[in-house]
Amino acid sequence: MTYEMILTSTQGPDSRKVGIVTLNRPKQLNALNDQLMDELASALKAFDADESIGCIILTGSEKAFAAGADIGAMAQYGFADVYGKDYITRNWEQIRDIRKPVIAAVSGFALGGGCELTMMCDFIIAADNAKFGQPEIKLGIIPGAGGTQRLPRAVGKSKAMDLALTGRMMDANEAERAGLVSRVVPLDKLMDEALGAALMICSYGQLAVMAAKESINRAFESGLSDGVMFERRLFHALFATSDQKEGMDAFVNKRKPAFTHR
Ligand code: HXC
Repeated sequence: MTYEMILTSTQGPDSRKVGIVTLNRPKQLNALNDQLMDELASALKAFDADESIGCIILTGSEKAFAAGADIGAMAQYGFADVYGKDYITRNWEQIRDIRKPVIAAVSGFALGGGCELTMMCDFIIAADNAKFGQPEIKLGIIPGAGGTQRLPRAVGKSKAMDLALTGRMMDANEAERAGLVSRVVPLDKLMDEALGAALMICSYGQLAVMAAKESINRAFESGLSDGVMFERRLFHALFATSDQKEGMDAFVNKRKPAFTHR
């Protein structure tokens, strides 16, 4: 597939690379329309299927990760378009099917669908100029890609209500204090920081990495005892992998592990 609204690249050693997807509609502050979301889903799936890729970074421009769904495109839609034809939201949940870690490297605005997109990623590293918000209320709508569900899980009810009901933005430091963001770094260090984290993840055994992601995500889908049992079974399963033997043998013999992702 040829992409018009995103850029893709890779970084790192050939054997284990980081796949980078950059949202690229800078004039519209990376407003998310159906074509962009189709391209994004396709690029993420291609990286997920590529055995040489160990981790994925999703990023935008300095001024905007994404300022939300494309309001111009949505303005004339009616119920028959959005419900009947599944315009706007059709590809979003596919992002949750990506099994390799996806890090959001966020600078500038992450608003509406842009904020929801960051929350579909596995963790968020923010530049100090990042601003997060769910301003849909100002347009007469509510978040439509998981914002009312993932934001309260990330920051608690009070702040989620505050953001969704007032439409205000929160800056990177507030987002970090609230637990939405895992790290805040100066803008010019954002990609270095994200790449450092991604390359570290690439250096580990892929099966354990995928299992850790799947198990943490299960925390949002199940009660505690079911979640703990799910984790326990994955933990047990990893003892059937070569990487577990390699990782533990390397530790015991004080050498660097060479994971084979098997
Ligand atoms: C379409 C957008 C856009 C958007 C910005 N632009 N956001 N176009 N959809 N969501 C366009 C502007 O129209 C403008 O185009 C150009 O990008 C630059 O934006 P400005 O407003 O001139 O920039 P600035 O003054 O710096 O303000 C930045 C901003 C503001 C605060 C981010 O643009 C803004 O409030 N945008 C809308 C944010 C929003 O409401 N997001 C939620 C959307 S609803 P021109 O042609 O004039 O240069 C949503 C629902 C999700 O996301 C549902 C699930 C999928």
